[in-house]
Amino acid sequence: MSAVTAEIFSKKDYRLLPTQVPPTVVETLDVAEKAALMARIERLLVERDAVLVAHYYTSPELQELAEATGGYVSDSLDMARFGTECKASTLVVAGVRFMGETAKILNPEKRVLMPNLDAECSLDLGCPAEEFTAFCDQHPERTVVVYANTSAAVKARSDWVVTSGIALDLVRHLAGQGEKLIWAPDQHLGAYVQRETGIDMLLWSGSCVVHEAFKADALRQLRAQHPDAKVLVHPESPLDIITQADVVGSTTALVEAVRKLSAKKFIVATDNGLFYKMKQAAPDKILLEAPTGGKGATCVSCAHCPWMAMNGLRNLAQVLECGGNEILIDEAIRERAVQPIRRLLAFAKQRKQVVLGNNDA
Ligand code: 13P
Ligand code: SF4
Repeated sequence: MSAVTAEIFSKKDYRLLPTQVPPTVVETLDVAEKAALMARIERLLVERDAVLVAHYYTSPELQELAEATGGYVSDSLDMARFGTECKASTLVVAGVRFMGETAKILNPEKRVLMPNLDAECSLDLGCPAEEFTAFCDQHPERTVVVYANTSAAVKARSDWVVTSGIALDLVRHLAGQGEKLIWAPDQHLGAYVQRETGIDMLLWSGSCVVHEAFKADALRQLRAQHPDAKVLVHPESPLDIITQADVVGSTTALVEAVRKLSAKKFIVATDNGLFYKMKQAAPDKILLEAPTGGKGATCVSCAHCPWMAMNGLRNLAQVLECGGNEILIDEAIRERAVQPIRRLLAFAKQRKQVVLGNNDA
């Protein structure tokens, strides 16, 4: 293998400025309004032959509703898999835009709606398709791996799409084949994967505004105050947070860690929307938020994604009632984007079989 690099190629910094990030505004509902909206949405889902697929970072109300109505709550990889397997003719995706787009790319025959089409993602916004394509064209010898948190056009230029749940496995597989990568858009996830696999990769310079806000010194202090706590970290966090982790993993992996580890206390470095599912999984455990305050803090997001927070019961009911906010994707782009996503799902399925096979043995 040639000299290993994990180089941020770009002179340009693709991370968003705080002024480009909307404030996090969480929907507030009184008990009566919440009950009325939930009943209305439940009825509309049946009438529209629709199913609700929600990400773990959405509100407890949305997660509760998805699960109570035959829908699904999970990480981005499993949301995509569920969308392809469910029978409903309409998928309502509560999450951020790339999740709705992935559902549409995989299921062109289905109608895909979202409560709010402005629910973006700083990684997706920080990877403009034209600039990314131009960069890839300069390195035709490299395999292009993009995170699911990207637009359909960026996926269309890739060889592989990955999510945090499968990134390490897949890159280990590619490293074994001697491939060199372009990795986009998350520089922190990319640096972590590079460190773990030793693969030669050129990194795009994007980041997640939520995970980038965790503060290493403040985390060290919190760990010192709670030496009995295990530290759980999503790999979109910077390396000085990841190196303090007991467990690094996707949102599903972090929920599983709370459920399975014998520790009673956890410090969690990811969006605090995940606490709802963690508390359901292990009601007796103590969960502490990893600090976003401290030296150099801007606390743009304060550990809750401003775009995830744009999903609520009001706009969900509205979209089901009136049918707006449909995800539409240019067919030529969709046809190219579907290939690396299918490759991802096939790889994930095969890996799952291998893991289950090992457990059985
Ligand atoms: P997961 O794939 O782990 O759900 O992560 C998606 C995401 O956007 C995390 O910020
Ligand atoms: Fe994107 Fe970060 Fe929000 Fe996830 S938490 S959707 S990576 S901005």
